[in-house]
Amino acid sequence: MLKETFLLSNGVHIPKVGFGTWQVPNGDIAYQAVKDALEVGYIHIDTAYVYENEISVGQAIKDSKSDRKDLFITSKLPSHIKDYQETETYFHESLKRLEMDYMDLFLIHAPWPWSNIGQDCKVGNAEAWKKMIELYQSKKIRSIGVSNFNVDDLKDLIKRTGFIPHVNQIAFFAGHYQKQKETIAFCKENNILVEAYSPLAIGHALKTPLVLTLAEKYHKTPAQILIRYTLEHGTLPLPKSTKKARMIENADLDFTLDQKDVEALDVLSEDPRRFG
Ligand SMILES: NC(=O)c1ccc[n+]([C@@H]2O[C@H](COP(=O)([O-])OP(=O)(O)OC[C@H]3O[C@@H](n4cnc5c(N)ncnc54)[C@H](OP(=O)(O)O)[C@@H]3O)[C@@H](O)[C@H]2O)c1
Repeated sequence: MLKETFLLSNGVHIPKVGFGTWQVPNGDIAYQAVKDALEVGYIHIDTAYVYENEISVGQAIKDSKSDRKDLFITSKLPSHIKDYQETETYFHESLKRLEMDYMDLFLIHAPWPWSNIGQDCKVGNAEAWKKMIELYQSKKIRSIGVSNFNVDDLKDLIKRTGFIPHVNQIAFFAGHYQKQKETIAFCKENNILVEAYSPLAIGHALKTPLVLTLAEKYHKTPAQILIRYTLEHGTLPLPKSTKKARMIENADLDFTLDQKDVEALDVLSEDPRRFG
C-alpha cells in the first residue's frame, strides 16, 4: 500500500498513504519518528512550517540515505501569510529547514489565519497562490495545493487565478462525511485530490462501538478500519504516530470495506455513543 499512488491532475504520482507529523516535536522525537516511518516504508511525509519540525524531518530523511526522488515531501505555507513576496520567503525557508532543493507538494495551510478562523482573506490567498504557481512553473515545486478550503474558497481562488489546485487537504474521518461531502464532491468534479487529515479523528474515533464491531468483523484493528474508510472515499490518509508498531499497523490496509459499512461510518457522528 505504501508504494501505491494516486495520480494528480498534472500527472504527478503521489503515494496513497502519507505520514503525518503534526504535534511531533522538533528534535529527537520528530527525528526518530521520521526515521522509523522511512524504515517501515512510508515514502510520503507531511509536515508544515508551523509544525516547527522541518529541521528534524529533513535530517532524518538525509540520514536515511533514501534517494530524494523516491520520496514525496509536503510542507505548508503558514496560514497568516497572505502575500505574494512573503510566500516566496516562507517557501525558501521551508526548503532550507528541510535541506532540500525542491518540494513535491506545497500547500496554503488554511484560507484564514488559525488565529482568526473565517476571516475573509480571498485577495491574499490569490496573491500567495500566484507566487506558488510561479514556483510550480519554475519546477521548485512538483505540485501545489490548498488545505482547509471549502467550496467557496476553492471557487474564488480558481476564479481569481484560473489555476486549479492539485490537492485540497481537509479534516476527514468517519463521522465527518456530512460536513465535508460538498467539498469532496467539488474536488472530485474538478480533479482535485482530497487528502484526509486526522483520519483517526486524532485518536477520538478509535473506541467508537461501530468501529470496534467492524474491527472484529474484518479481523483488523480500529485504526485500520478508520484509515481504510478514508481510502474507500478516494481520499489520501495522513495518519500520524510516534510509535513504530502503530506505523506498521496504520499501513497494513490491504482489504476493502463493504459499501454498507462505509455508509454506516459516514454517519458515525450521529451515533450518540460516539465517544462511549
Ligand atoms: N492541514 C491541516 O490543517 C492539518 C491539521 C491536522 C493534521 N494534519 C496532518 O494530518 C496528520 C494526521 O492527523 P492528526 O495528527 O491530527 O491525527 P490522527 O492521525 O488522526 O491521529 C493521531 C493520534 O492517534 C494516535 N494513533 C496513531 N495510530 C494509532 C493506532 N494504530 N492505534 C491507536 N492510536 C493511534 C496517535 O498517538 P501516537 O503518536 O502516540 O501513536 C495520535 O494521538 C497530521 O499529523 C498532519 O500531518 C493537517
